[in-house]
Amino acid sequence: MAEETLSNLLAEDRTFPPSDEFAAQANGTQAMYDAAAEDREGFWADQARSLLTWETDFTQTLDWSQAPVASWFVGGRLNASVNCLDRHIEAGLGDRVAINFVGEPGDTRTLTYADLHEQVQRAANALAALGVGTGDRVAIYLPMIPEAAVAMLACARLGAPHSVVFGGFSSDALRTRIADAEAKVVITADGGYRKGKPSALKPAVDAALEGETTVEKVLVVRRTETEVEWDEGRDLWWHDALEAAEPTHTPDYFDSEHPLFILYTSGTTGKPKGIFHTTGGYLTQSAFTCSTVLDIHPETDVYWCTADIGWVTGHSYSVYGPMSLGATQVMYEGTPDTPHQGRWWEIVQDYGVTIFYTAPTAIRACMKWGSDIPAKFDLSSLRLLGSVGEPINPEAWMWYRRVIGGDRCPIVDTWWQTETGAIMVSPLPGVTATRPGSAQLAIPGISVDVVDEAGNSVPDGHGGYLVIREPWPSMLRGIWGDPERYAETYWSRFPDVYFAGDGAKKDSEGNIWVLGRVDDVMNVSGHRLSTTEIESALVSHPKVAEAAVVGATDTMTGQAVVAFVILRGDAVEEADEEGEGAELVAELRSHVAKEIGPIARPRQIMIVPELPKTRSGKIMRRLLRDVAEKREVGDVTTLADSSVMDLIKDGISSGS
Ligand code: WT7
Repeated sequence: MAEETLSNLLAEDRTFPPSDEFAAQANGTQAMYDAAAEDREGFWADQARSLLTWETDFTQTLDWSQAPVASWFVGGRLNASVNCLDRHIEAGLGDRVAINFVGEPGDTRTLTYADLHEQVQRAANALAALGVGTGDRVAIYLPMIPEAAVAMLACARLGAPHSVVFGGFSSDALRTRIADAEAKVVITADGGYRKGKPSALKPAVDAALEGETTVEKVLVVRRTETEVEWDEGRDLWWHDALEAAEPTHTPDYFDSEHPLFILYTSGTTGKPKGIFHTTGGYLTQSAFTCSTVLDIHPETDVYWCTADIGWVTGHSYSVYGPMSLGATQVMYEGTPDTPHQGRWWEIVQDYGVTIFYTAPTAIRACMKWGSDIPAKFDLSSLRLLGSVGEPINPEAWMWYRRVIGGDRCPIVDTWWQTETGAIMVSPLPGVTATRPGSAQLAIPGISVDVVDEAGNSVPDGHGGYLVIREPWPSMLRGIWGDPERYAETYWSRFPDVYFAGDGAKKDSEGNIWVLGRVDDVMNVSGHRLSTTEIESALVSHPKVAEAAVVGATDTMTGQAVVAFVILRGDAVEEADEEGEGAELVAELRSHVAKEIGPIARPRQIMIVPELPKTRSGKIMRRLLRDVAEKREVGDVTTLADSSVMDLIKDGISSGS
């Protein structure tokens, strides 16, 4: 990788050591790194035993003889829902709040661990009555409401792997996921609230089940009270089924390697991959990272992860991780700007949230709305901030730290994937001196490296591909029904190591800077350039709110840098004035050239009102590449708002 590739990010030399006060109370310690370095498997065995309750203890920590499929905690037996619920009740914590729910319209519900326990037992009985047994798959297509957690834990209680499909996905996406997992039951709702109005879900389920299907029954949660079509032989109301069910359920215990869930994630091409996770290892690492990285102290913290359960973050950090620790959480149904752009900060204030975990795209949106909005709320309860999902540019990191964290809260930038199941690379907030923009170091017990094309570890100061050298507890156990694709996708690029698909660089101190997917790394005149790096440079300009960069095919240079830029409030008006737009574009092009080097100067910068994003907030560069390369814009069905592409095209043809 060319040396100039990360010069902009690596020139970032601000560092923020933890305060003595934070370090003194932190769960994650230097001693953990030392213990794991000494005896990695022994370290994980200790975590599994101390964080979880096993019905039968395991006899072997790791069996890697069937590589690349690992078995962790061999011979152990446990139940995930017992770990998240029953054992807390037995410990006398039934009255502790598990979920502080805030609906988008403003309705609220408080569920204690005892409440959740009863609902999960009823739901498990109801599912069993519908014929769901150990090993049967259940699809969950719900808004972000407490029933989503109840449904997941009820499936786990029965040993029936769930496949949560994000409520924003279309009926087609739902149909292919149901078919691939051969789900027997679907749990859905009439709808949920989004952007101030009910958004229907049931019609998509009806459409997804038309024709041949493996689904026998559909359980429907009543949330929006909108009218729904009803199939008498197939559909049941969730509240009726739970009311009719017994309130207690005696759990079975399952092998540590029993499948817990399937979660589909898009590959670069072709059909989505059903990433599947098993029980013991997944739960161990989710709980461990909630404790050490997010520093959850269940007795005192109010924790809030803004991720929807439709994503892996919602699985590991809204359900299994925090609940296995017995934490108190906030769950919010809606969008951050409904009914006003301070909604999140109002919730932080109202519930005294202490730990807040969100995505860079959301942070940048809040930056765009302006610092005066969070300033209206009391955010002094916050003590730790987290970031996940994409590289966070130093400007956004600094804004997050200063405006949301009051210059007092450590920030953990956590790198991981659907496939890794839990956090892999991150600072430990009581140990690591953090650096804006870097996920920094593998957590204790995890072995991450950056390698060159040939698979050799690169020295500090160089870039390459992010790999994982040793199996880890929460690793995926495969792609559902497709073991060859699993081996091919992750284990064939380099011998015996897991290829994450991300580019990364080690700085002179060995900190890891994740550059983004390797498919987002451009090659301009033989120089590797990271989209993230150029985006960071653009966002560091005072007039820029958000930027997306793509590599567009160019006959001269192979690829050329094309940038799409959203301006900050004042700059928009300026740019609208005669001629000012062109001047600003020139200014931004030279700004990038100045920040990174002339090689990175964008060939073209387009000022746009919005960027095309998936509902999980990922910028769909593929669509921007279509615009940049003047092609017909491709499939927009996974966009959060499919009209965005029209806005962008209109803006461009009208000459900005
Ligand atoms: C990809 C995985 C992890 C849960 C949410 C996304 C990117 C994730 C970071 C980070 C830089 C990050 C990577 C990764 N990514 N976290 N802290 N810094 N990049 O899960 O949809 O499976 O996406 O998200 O490119 O490969 P996912």
